[in-house]
Amino acid sequence: MTNAPTPRTILITGAAGGMCRGVNARLAAAGHTVLCADLSRDAAEQAADAVRADGGRAEAFTVDVSDPASIADLTAEVHDRAGEIDVLVNAAGILDRKYLADHDEHSFQRTLDINLTGPFRMIQAFSPELIRRGWGRIINISSIAGVTGYPYPSYSASKAGLSNLTRSLVIDFWGTGVTVNSICPGVVDTPMVIQEVRDQVPRKVPTEQIVDPAEIGGLALFLMSDDARNINGADMLIDGGATRYFQLFDRP
Ligand SMILES: NC(=O)c1ccc[n+]([C@@H]2O[C@H](COP(=O)([O-])OP(=O)(O)OC[C@H]3O[C@@H](n4cnc5c(N)ncnc54)[C@H](O)[C@@H]3O)[C@@H](O)[C@H]2O)c1
Repeated sequence: MTNAPTPRTILITGAAGGMCRGVNARLAAAGHTVLCADLSRDAAEQAADAVRADGGRAEAFTVDVSDPASIADLTAEVHDRAGEIDVLVNAAGILDRKYLADHDEHSFQRTLDINLTGPFRMIQAFSPELIRRGWGRIINISSIAGVTGYPYPSYSASKAGLSNLTRSLVIDFWGTGVTVNSICPGVVDTPMVIQEVRDQVPRKVPTEQIVDPAEIGGLALFLMSDDARNINGADMLIDGGATRYFQLFDRP
């Protein structure tokens, strides 16, 4: 008797990024097929190659989630080369380190377009096939910056929007077998994190640890499992307790 999970086809945007290298690897190691989509074909190919080098199944795709035409092309190419998907992970995102005064409308809008409207577009494109087949998982990579205030307002607004898009979509997917959740990481060990933030971890994070990208993959795997079938519309915090600590004072 085996407890092997049903092999799923998982489409991941931003799959060539620092976090997704760990996510792709965990999902592929569990026997799933990972469709790695990113802005650059080369980067997506490298991400897929890394999975294949470890014996997993992966395919590379190009997408710009800020461009509806690019998403239409991706949809056609995925269906052509890999068939219908079971799981959509929206991980593509940018962090524009601008304070309010440094933004213009275009720069602010650009972050919203990629981090919030991008997942909206992807969900509109790929959810009909999940609904039709009566099972699906949508996992949006939000951030603790969407849960608490945060210095860079375009980023925090986009992630707060993404988390609330997630909550709202449980109504759209009512009774369909499709769940939609956000993973809200704290500080993850990726190039997106600047050294200054890394240095703060022992003082600001109760576990005193930076999150390993593989842990995000582990949480995504759990959300795909039967045990998680009633987790829906949730913000899954994976932040070592950082957002639970009132930081007006330094730790005792
Ligand atoms: N690194 C962290 O500590 C951290 C913490 C919380 C949340 N996050 C979120 O996790 C996700 C992944 O972050 P990361 O650390 O891997 O960042 P990253 O910059 O390494 O990866 C982001 C990926 O998204 C891709 N991308 C950017 N714009 C795109 C577009 N328009 N269309 C398609 N792909 C696009 C990039 O090419 C890149 O490969 C992001 O959504 C980020 O906001 C990261």
